[in-house]
Amino acid sequence: MSFSKQTVRDIELSGKRVLLRVDYNLPMKNGKITSDFRIEQSLPTIKYLLDKHCSIVIMSHLGRPEGKKNKEFSLRSAAERLSKLLGQNVEFVEDCIGSEVEKAVSSLKPKQVLMLENVRFYPEEEANDLSFAEKLSKWGYVFVQDCFGVAHRAHASVVGVTKYLPSVAGLLLEKEVDTITKVMSDPERPLMAIVGGAKISDKIIVLKKFIEIADFVAIGGAMANTFLLAEGIETGNSLTEPDDVPLAKEIIALARARAEKSKFVFYLPQDGVVATDIENPSSTRIVDWNAQVIADIEAYPRQPKHEASHVKDDERILDIGPFSASFIAGGLQMVQTVVWNGTLGVAEVEGKNNDPIGPFAHGTELIVEALLGHYGHRPFTIVGGGDTAGYVEERNLTKAFNHVSTGGGASLELMEGKKLPGVEALPDKEPNNL
Ligand code: 3PG
Repeated sequence: MSFSKQTVRDIELSGKRVLLRVDYNLPMKNGKITSDFRIEQSLPTIKYLLDKHCSIVIMSHLGRPEGKKNKEFSLRSAAERLSKLLGQNVEFVEDCIGSEVEKAVSSLKPKQVLMLENVRFYPEEEANDLSFAEKLSKWGYVFVQDCFGVAHRAHASVVGVTKYLPSVAGLLLEKEVDTITKVMSDPERPLMAIVGGAKISDKIIVLKKFIEIADFVAIGGAMANTFLLAEGIETGNSLTEPDDVPLAKEIIALARARAEKSKFVFYLPQDGVVATDIENPSSTRIVDWNAQVIADIEAYPRQPKHEASHVKDDERILDIGPFSASFIAGGLQMVQTVVWNGTLGVAEVEGKNNDPIGPFAHGTELIVEALLGHYGHRPFTIVGGGDTAGYVEERNLTKAFNHVSTGGGASLELMEGKKLPGVEALPDKEPNNL
């Protein structure tokens, strides 16, 4: 089923002033943008509107300034970066409502672009306050919603404004929703999900979903530690969530039940890279705790037994080990579609001499190589947003994957099967345009 909401292609926009909501919640370090991926991904819609001789008023949030004006969260540098990427001047106004904005907006000419200051400088934004939404809506005659990353939030500039203006989706929103929905509802099989990250509780619903729909689910990251704990494996001083052991047990039971009925693999790491000190990689060891592979034996035979060792009390598991990474990479040779959400180790720790591949990134890196076809087969891959996209952006690999989502929470909620308020608020396509 393709995207059912009206998009910029479905209405007459020529020469109109458009109010465009993007998600320029960009990663920043010391006031500098560290990745402009989200800006880049918004360009097709902006260029489409400029081709139609529209003038564009852009609004976004950045960070969580908690309803207060705060220079640290200013969108000025995002406007400058957009200007560079677009190859034309982007005016910036230091507010998103009020007389200064009114002045700037009324002097906009066709094909000119103006960016407003952070909408989250007003508490009314997150409260989805309708009188605030109405004030924002004055800046355009049509509202284009292209902020997939925040489409799971019912905020004034995302949902509220749709009450006051004819509203349609932008091209990024359409692409994100289409791609993710297709993979979750009708993927080319086998489908594999690689789920990492820190907390089981953040990913519980999506994990259950993948156990239902995927053919192979591989777990990594700190969340794997809680599963190992649930399986009675020693995890030493690793980051674990003892309170979530019952959740982990529940998921393992679901996976076992599914594996009994059909060809299905649920893979927990069998070995790991451990260290006593994250800053001191010389303490690093590889430990094989001989974790279980819950699998359909015929399709994916159990691996031969290895001599087991254990994680010592003062050690932390910081990456999946070479055996587990190879097992997952091997699985990737057999599947057609992959959803990857969460790095498999503490991949953000840099190596010596600023080497981007740090001591605990080798598991993730091997999986990246396998996803990109270095070992022969290249599956269609969706990379979930948030930290996973962050890793891929840092490695300059966003263009190498079939789809890297600009949404962290939003992509997760969409995968879970939830409706996104920012999408739901848009009108459906006319039946003959579907
Ligand atoms: C994101 O980066 O995930 C979105 O911009 C949403 O940000 P939020 O979690 O602060 O609402």
